[in-house]
Amino acid sequence: MTEWYNNGNLGYMKEKEENNKMEKIISLCKRRGFIFQGSEIYGGLAGTWDYGPYGVTLKGNAKDSWWQRFVTNREDMYGMDAAILMNQNVWKATGHVGGFSDPLAECKKCKKRFRTDQLPDKKKCPECNGEMGEERQFNMLFKTHVGALEDENSVSYLRPETAQGMFVNYKNIIDSFHPKLPFGMAQIGKAFRNEIAPRDFTFRAREFEQMEIEYLVDPKDWKENFEHFRKEMLAWIKEIGIKTDGVYEHEISDEDRAFYSKRTIDFEFDFPFGRSELYGLAYRTDYDLSRHSASSGVDLVYLNEETKEKITPHCIEPSFGLDRTVLAILSSAYTEDELGGEKRVYLKFVPKIAPVKVAVFPLLKNKPQLVEKAREVYKTLKKEFGAVEFDDNGNIGKRYRRQDEIGTPFCITVDFDTLEKNEGVTVRDRDSGKQERVSEKDLIFYLKEKLV
Ligand code: GAP
Repeated sequence: MTEWYNNGNLGYMKEKEENNKMEKIISLCKRRGFIFQGSEIYGGLAGTWDYGPYGVTLKGNAKDSWWQRFVTNREDMYGMDAAILMNQNVWKATGHVGGFSDPLAECKKCKKRFRTDQLPDKKKCPECNGEMGEERQFNMLFKTHVGALEDENSVSYLRPETAQGMFVNYKNIIDSFHPKLPFGMAQIGKAFRNEIAPRDFTFRAREFEQMEIEYLVDPKDWKENFEHFRKEMLAWIKEIGIKTDGVYEHEISDEDRAFYSKRTIDFEFDFPFGRSELYGLAYRTDYDLSRHSASSGVDLVYLNEETKEKITPHCIEPSFGLDRTVLAILSSAYTEDELGGEKRVYLKFVPKIAPVKVAVFPLLKNKPQLVEKAREVYKTLKKEFGAVEFDDNGNIGKRYRRQDEIGTPFCITVDFDTLEKNEGVTVRDRDSGKQERVSEKDLIFYLKEKLV
């Protein structure tokens, strides 16, 4: 397996072994405007990444598809967008202030710090072979102060997970919507962790996005609801084009599970750097609601209106990392092959995830009639599909290569037969490279069938 370590500067990854695919994906992401190193012109800021135009669209498409499946298409889910900054007592109640830590040690020779649970040899520095110092616990919460006074009372934390923003709104949802159990709260948003060793591109970052659901159930029903979300998570993974033969369910053992969880499955994925956690599904019992109730003094029970029975609901939590989703999509889509005797690279995105759905070209740039006609086709398609590009740069081969690299499913060329013989346009399929002539009047229908 390949290990990458963060040096804390722009040389953010140090290659320990050959890892071509990862390097190629990182390079494509930068070259084609998907993902850049955060604060790059200042030498970078370790563990932060900036999504460029195609990256933000790709990420947005993944978010939309998640929201559609897990919120819009359901009757039992309440969407949320809670504040990132929360009262410090939230994180005291959950145990994050006291215990959200990873084991850390410093090399006595080069002074670099590492997460010891990720070192092949805890006693030896992976950078300089120096002797490692004493292990201690390092809290990963990002601390800040709210307002003009910097004292203990003004302390707040950037949330390390989106989950708690939902638990603390449980009572608001109950009071406003009077839902029946089971029901869930869902949100997508940023989370922050001061990771000791951010690594593997966006896989372990200090600022990242999560998509989480807190699904509240009667404790006697937890098993069937857990199973329901296990299947739904796998179905969504497939829907967005993550290679399912690279996904593994890892049942977390009693010893390794968080103390409040009665069952946890990690969905792992074969990333280019090795098999690692993609998502988690946990049965968190009534831990969070009980802690917040005890700590805030606010009653967070559920009253069954029919039986008049009061219970603290239990929680099933499907938790998805959005940046890991994008990385798994990129890794699944990255393909190299040979087309017309030439090597090429393309991203085999499923159409709903592709940042650009269709690209339109005039065969030649210097023929105004071709350009004008191509622009007309482009405008019609843009109205219909939105994510459509017009490109007249370089020769046609170069344009195809660029669109293949950003994963555009279809390229349309307007040529002389379009103008002179009214023979429609050519539509090129990204994966096979095959071209078909399609009449202008059938074009929208043809593309709709293939894209949806
Ligand atoms: N509320 C539960 C929770 O936060 P977690 O396993 O710590 O559980 C959930 O995080 C998901 O968030 C992970 O499965 C992963 O996809 C993503 N994630 C966690 N830490 C991350 C990091 N440092 N960088 C990128 N994604 C991360």
